[in-house]
Amino acid sequence: MIHKIDALLAEIEHLKANSNEDLEALRIKYLSKKGEISSLMDDFRTVAAEQKREIGQKLNLLKMQAQEKINTLKEQLENRNTSEEMIDLTRTSYPYHVGTRHPLSIVKKEICDIFARLGFSIAEGPEIEDDWHVFSSLNFAADHPARDMQDTFFVMHGADILLRTHTSSVQTRVMEKTQPPIRIICPGRVYRNEAISYRAHCFFHQVEALYIDKNVSFADLKQTLLFVAKELFGAETKIRLRPSFFPFTEPSAEMDISCNLCGGKGCPFCKYTGWVEILGCGMVDPNVLENCGIDSKIYSGYALGMGIERITNLKYQVKDLRLFSENDVRFLRQFEAAT
Ligand code: DAH
Repeated sequence: MIHKIDALLAEIEHLKANSNEDLEALRIKYLSKKGEISSLMDDFRTVAAEQKREIGQKLNLLKMQAQEKINTLKEQLENRNTSEEMIDLTRTSYPYHVGTRHPLSIVKKEICDIFARLGFSIAEGPEIEDDWHVFSSLNFAADHPARDMQDTFFVMHGADILLRTHTSSVQTRVMEKTQPPIRIICPGRVYRNEAISYRAHCFFHQVEALYIDKNVSFADLKQTLLFVAKELFGAETKIRLRPSFFPFTEPSAEMDISCNLCGGKGCPFCKYTGWVEILGCGMVDPNVLENCGIDSKIYSGYALGMGIERITNLKYQVKDLRLFSENDVRFLRQFEAAT
């Protein structure tokens, strides 16, 4: 009997199972009620008393090893099922997302590209500014409400260090350093002390354009505006200028475009007027030129400024401004095609 047990121990050590069926057959052969080990247990009853101890121990060992082997084979089979057999080489790969440009960057780039085709180059300035560049040089009266704490974030009130409220400050910085001809476009972030809601934020983005040379007239401005509107919103786009006021331009105007959703027929988006407002503009006030060391008797120029969020909303109908700064990939991924 001892030989039989030894033979089985050796046999068990080399067992293999290629499938669950193989494994079950092995279990039945060795461990079931009618299996080899059970039958040895039966024989054990007839073993002479003096051999019982030795054979009993071996038999227990055999049973334990058989059980262990079956368990190991089972584990191996399970692992193989998940790691090898389940791989489907014909399956298409998992889609993975390459990043997207932010919608505001897409539109900013588009605006800059349009102006670049007209010969404008990009100028940038600091976001932390002083009163002179944001207000005083631009002809803001001392008591202009924009200077109020309600609208402007002051960094150091006494020293008049503040977060710029518009990109018009870059105009001054460039004019102070450069004599005409000047043809620049200034994209950038601006800050205003507004309660955050779906239609207002405490920071947003603008693009400013400035053209100063001899004999620049309102006709030049209007033609530029028409070109930019058509490039941005399509060749059928019409523009309309309404008289307005800005401290740094005289005369000043606001520009509407024919509603890009209904084509000017009137819809809820344009509040049935057929027009939507997109920017402010005007002829640079001679005071501003003089403030920056440019002779207003020789030179004239136009300026315009627009909100990038506003243009993006018009192009993509983004209903809630907050989406632009929340970094929700479900929103951002919708711009993959436009990148
Ligand atoms: N700076 C103005 C604003 O923030 C926008 C603007 C209006 C800019 C008219 C201009 C301009 O250059 O001519 O609302």
